[in-house]
Amino acid sequence: MSYQVALGFEDGVTRFVTCGPTETVADASYKARINIPLDCRDGACGTCKSLCESGEYDGGDYIDDALTDAEAEAGYCLPCQMVPQSDLVVQIPTTSDVAKTAAAAHPATVTAVDRLAEGAFALTVELDDRGALAFLPGQYVNVSVPGTDQTRSYSFSTGPDEKHLSFLIKYAPGGAMSEYLAQRCAVGDRLELTGPMGSFFLRESERPLLLLAGGTGLAPVLSILESLAVAGAAERPVHLVYGTSRDTDVVYTELLDDYTTRLPGLTWDLVVSDPETRHPNSGYVTGLIGPEHLHDGAADIYLCGPPPMVEAVRTHLDEEGLEVTHFYYEKFTPAAVAAPDTDSAAAPDAAAVETPVAEAAAVTAEPAPTQAAPEEPAPTETAPADAAPVESSPAPAATAPAPAGPAVPEPAATAPDPDDERDAATAAATPPAAIAARPVGFEPRTPGLFDAPAATPHTTSAPAIAARPVGLEPRVPGQVPPTRTEDSRTDDHTVAIGARPVGYTPRPVTLRPVTSTSADGTTSTSVSLSGGERTETITSTTGVVSGEVHPGIGQSDAQFDARMALELGAVELTMGRLDGARLAEFRMLAESANRFIDGDRFVDPERFTATNAQFHEFLFRCTGNDALLQAYRMLEVTRVMNSVLPDARWVSEEIVPEHLEIVAAFENADRDAARYLIRRHTEHAKATMRAALAARAGETMEVAS
Ligand code: FES
Repeated sequence: MSYQVALGFEDGVTRFVTCGPTETVADASYKARINIPLDCRDGACGTCKSLCESGEYDGGDYIDDALTDAEAEAGYCLPCQMVPQSDLVVQIPTTSDVAKTAAAAHPATVTAVDRLAEGAFALTVELDDRGALAFLPGQYVNVSVPGTDQTRSYSFSTGPDEKHLSFLIKYAPGGAMSEYLAQRCAVGDRLELTGPMGSFFLRESERPLLLLAGGTGLAPVLSILESLAVAGAAERPVHLVYGTSRDTDVVYTELLDDYTTRLPGLTWDLVVSDPETRHPNSGYVTGLIGPEHLHDGAADIYLCGPPPMVEAVRTHLDEEGLEVTHFYYEKFTPAAVAAPDTDSAAAPDAAAVETPVAEAAAVTAEPAPTQAAPEEPAPTETAPADAAPVESSPAPAATAPAPAGPAVPEPAATAPDPDDERDAATAAATPPAAIAARPVGFEPRTPGLFDAPAATPHTTSAPAIAARPVGLEPRVPGQVPPTRTEDSRTDDHTVAIGARPVGYTPRPVTLRPVTSTSADGTTSTSVSLSGGERTETITSTTGVVSGEVHPGIGQSDAQFDARMALELGAVELTMGRLDGARLAEFRMLAESANRFIDGDRFVDPERFTATNAQFHEFLFRCTGNDALLQAYRMLEVTRVMNSVLPDARWVSEEIVPEHLEIVAAFENADRDAARYLIRRHTEHAKATMRAALAARAGETMEVAS
């Protein structure tokens, strides 16, 4: 039974959280991203002391120093210990703004505005404090429209390391930003960026890339290319297909050519849907995607475009049987948008400007099978770019029904994925990135932590895990591990861990579709596709839907890699930006989780799972980016870990010291050390997880968050 807890703050704000049957108010608040004052979380310090105004609860364990009998008699309580037995009203001794993490606002000045083409502007700004804004290539910000009370969402078209920040903006007549840019914008104008936002960004990887951009969806792709160039990824195979509806919308071709010089591994194609185009390729983006761009499933796909384009690409991949291990997309939808109207509160170009929905839909997306053939497009596909751009592309909310056709479905969890012929073996064979060598000068504080060679590239068959669990002998290649029984759970350390044992395939993990909505309106959904072969995570905020598709956890280690990639992104956004209080909280969370491990044994796996989840979510929470946090939570591997670990016995003994080392890396603002440790920690998490999964072999796992 769950209970509602009303948290009243000193500034009069009330927030509600739902407490599970054994959940403390503090844990439930944390999950809701409400940071009530905490320190020990153990009933010892009294920091969380609050006043319960109504309801029944179990006060938990605490010492008199934290809460006296008289205080308890008077209604005071310790949220870190109290477990509701009815709905509660609790007064929290702080203000709501202290308790909440939000995206930061960054004042900026316009330094340039250029009309790149009939249908697109480039807006360049300089931040008052450039160092205060860290973002990942592919992310976006909300930009205020000077002279109005409106904001619009735009992806950066410049790289994260550049001083000036630019945006590629679709011109939509009548739109607030469009008209500002066309009529009033001048160098020196002041505006404000809020963010960064979104979970669409380039993950760290050495895999080949296929980048697909529709219209001004080119912006995040440019940011990705710039970051690749800065990172020196010169030889990495990258192919870009850039589509527009008209020749007059084509921009930045010279810049793309320049990138082929800086990135010799880059090739790109342009396609224009207008049959009268002067460019060599007429048609749709899908027409230029070939098997050679997928590298036998080893390539990662990043796609930014309108919803029809995203679905058309997915349909195309499925129909052609093209293998994809990691597929990331972002589509700007016309949520709550009316016809172009400068004064409309629902901005007409909120979506269309960022990624020209109607235009790109019309031009870059091959019509779905049930729609008109390409040479005879349906009306919405032929609509002029500036004709009610957003009305012509109905917004597929995260839970909208899947479009007709066999494409991988929109979040609607029941939509089938019949044509997917994904070869799990191929996906599993995708080599995960090797852990980088220990950064020069970085010495871990825990003796013996790095005794084993650390830089050995790991593969799915032989992951590099420094410390072999006690009693674990390396597997002989090809040897099938002994069948496990319930009784053998006490011998979990004898399970071959790290790689999925040869011949062992966990029974399908059945992921129920899960949808949650956070306080700021971000909706997140996680669904299983093709009976668990793939999973899709979708986060949706007003006008923007981002998603990622990976092989299911039973298919390969790709899920772990996806989670690590998100964590590495969070490192980039938070390193050097945590104040003393945040660092103290981070350390406290690490110590809190570590209390439930003794050596290589879980003392209390259930409480470890809960506290470990809080530790790992901490950096995401610090980004103030709800989409990123939700994307992390909704990954299948995160959910399965939270489901399976409560039954586990064995845990990698590296987990405890690594938690503390990761915190230390942040305390020392040592980015390289943090990245290194998170990579290693992922390997040990994999080992622990595989052991837990093996212990559950023979059972069908029903997973729900
Ligand atoms: Fe220390 Fe609750 S008593 S945080």
